[in-house]
Amino acid sequence: MCGIFGYIGSRQASEILLTGLARLEYRGYDSAGIVVKNGILDCYKSVGKVSELIATIDDMPEGRIGVAHTRWATHGGVTHENAHPHLSSSGKVAVVHNGIIENSKTLRKMLESRGIVFKSETDSENLAHLIEIYLESGYSPLNSVRLSLKRVVGTWGVAVVFKEHDLIICGRNGSPLVVGIGDQENVVSSDPHALSEHTSEVVFLEDGELAEITAEEVKVSRLDGSITQTNITQLEEDWGEAELGDYPHFMLKEMFEQPEALVHCISGRLNKKTGNARLQGLNLTRERMQQIPHVRLLGCGTALHACQIGQLALEKLARIPSVAHIASEFRNNDPVINPLALHFAVSQSGETADTLSAVKHIQSLGAEVHGVINVVGSSIARQSGQGVYIHSGPEQAVASTKAFTNMVAALMLFAIQLGRTRGLASSKAVAIADAMEKLPEQMSEYLSSPGSIAEAVDLVKDAKQVLFLGRGISAPVASEGALKLMELAYIPCLAYPAGEMKHGPIALLEEGSPVVVIAPDDHLKEKTISAIHECRARGAKIILIHTNGDPIAEEGDVSIGISPTHYLLSPILSVIPLQLIAYHTALELGCDVDRPRNLAKSVTVE
Ligand code: M6R
Repeated sequence: MCGIFGYIGSRQASEILLTGLARLEYRGYDSAGIVVKNGILDCYKSVGKVSELIATIDDMPEGRIGVAHTRWATHGGVTHENAHPHLSSSGKVAVVHNGIIENSKTLRKMLESRGIVFKSETDSENLAHLIEIYLESGYSPLNSVRLSLKRVVGTWGVAVVFKEHDLIICGRNGSPLVVGIGDQENVVSSDPHALSEHTSEVVFLEDGELAEITAEEVKVSRLDGSITQTNITQLEEDWGEAELGDYPHFMLKEMFEQPEALVHCISGRLNKKTGNARLQGLNLTRERMQQIPHVRLLGCGTALHACQIGQLALEKLARIPSVAHIASEFRNNDPVINPLALHFAVSQSGETADTLSAVKHIQSLGAEVHGVINVVGSSIARQSGQGVYIHSGPEQAVASTKAFTNMVAALMLFAIQLGRTRGLASSKAVAIADAMEKLPEQMSEYLSSPGSIAEAVDLVKDAKQVLFLGRGISAPVASEGALKLMELAYIPCLAYPAGEMKHGPIALLEEGSPVVVIAPDDHLKEKTISAIHECRARGAKIILIHTNGDPIAEEGDVSIGISPTHYLLSPILSVIPLQLIAYHTALELGCDVDRPRNLAKSVTVE
């Protein structure tokens, strides 16, 4: 979603800003802009890609201070005027803003009544005008931003530059901002990935904090004026932007990184001899684990599907009531929160606003939340204060792949850990641990010989819609396959538990309708075969994901085999052909696989 990048120091800012923007591109955006201080606030913006912005700039503006932005439209259409930065009327203040100003209409009316003419339809432009009014009244740049933000209801990650002052003022409330500390220069970004080429020392701003940044120093204070400690965090090495290498797309690269990522997730956390698993960051004593009344898992999109698998594994292995929740629905539904219960927030980016709000809601009702997160130091990781990292490494394609398999693995490890304190026999746990250790190699084997993906693509690429079916642990896999194909290839996809198909979706089937069925060799397979027959009887074409060597393979028009494994672990293998089908279908249809239309990698608005 929207990205902010800023620079202040002794080098030319514009090149640095544009490189910073390019590193934020993966988050998803529809327009971009930069402003550099060089006597005036020299501003350039454009609809479309950063490369299109660069094409509009004949001579790069010279100047050593500037901010830049990639915009994902919320208030107002995708137009040149609505792109950021936004300048105040006299051009003395330029603002880039992520988030939503909820009282935008009221502020705009008030500013217009003072004769201010708005140039855009955005909520963000209000800030530029407000800040200028305070500046003109004699307030310092920091206090002008502070007083303006105090009038705003909503969320912000904001960076402001001034025509007459050599500094950048930043603020955060609900939209991430990280300041990178350099040598006689400082950088700011909404995403630590973009900072790693400049520095590994960063300051994560917390909600309600402001930073006054000069080339020499960073001073952090709160909206109420109090000064806060500037806590410097060391970025881990793998926070740098991953390079594409020989791969044509990040998504393909990330799918192929799944075996190695899985090794990182499980290594050191599983004892093959005893079958015990241990996720250190959870800080749960044996006594506490035995007293947990229930588990709630929260996530969005792909993370939600991982939660649904985690729910089934927890119930099966730990015999503990568990529920997966759509994070965006959670707090609005007035949930009953039991402080003794366990709550998991699952997220790749750790910045998803819906999940973050759910975390805060649970905490406000007196319960703890554990994060299951990929991005180290992200907002949800810090807000939760405890939890586990899934160690997938940087995921840049909008479609989540290696984060999914590692989320499932991390939740499975937790189900084993919890299970072993609640009656799960060592022999059963050892069998799962054994199977888990084999997964990376099985994934690699599959990826090197993925079977009839091209035939499956032929069946789905021109379809009106595609139905995905699975039972039990494979039902969330069906949902994940449908999400992948829909977001990448823009084909309407519907996912249903196989048994539910006859209660409605069967009406969609006609001659040639493609149906993707996930049917690993588990106790539910026979029932899934009935659903296949029901589809076939209506002329549907079946794309079947099955276990290698299982005679069920004959049931598919296109059959794709995966290695045998413990059925609870089958999602980690069965999802890969679905990822590949989505990827190759999107390519066939000429879609942008890494940056599908309208989507953002980190969804930082509710
Ligand atoms: O960063 P998160 O895991 O919290 O993101 C949640 C969803 O926005 C994300 O999984 C989304 O559905 C992906 N585009 C799916 O591929």
